[in-house]
Amino acid sequence: MTKITFVTQDGTRYDIDAADGTTAMENAVRNDVPGIEAECGGACACATCHVYVDEAWREKTGEPEPMEEDMLDFAYEMRPNSRLSCQIKIRPELDGLVLTVPERQA
Ligand code: FES
Repeated sequence: MTKITFVTQDGTRYDIDAADGTTAMENAVRNDVPGIEAECGGACACATCHVYVDEAWREKTGEPEPMEEDMLDFAYEMRPNSRLSCQIKIRPELDGLVLTVPERQA
């Protein structure tokens, strides 16, 4: 298990024990984190699982693949630390990862 945290716009923190090999999005949905809609179910085809990666974690989470980058163009208020949470695979090195949910999804 890897501990990850989602922070919503009102500052509420959702601390989650995430199974390695799952995606950040799957954990958000399973734990009813508000604001992660994930309409396409993780196929990198909707951009409604958009999150902002905490600066301290950007290197470890890595850069988006070209397909994800294309989808991020449809995300609401994309920033340099934007990622699609369905493309972030949970692994032990991400223990402590903090992701912020945007004000709204695309
Ligand atoms: S769930 Fe649709 S792009 Fe992530």
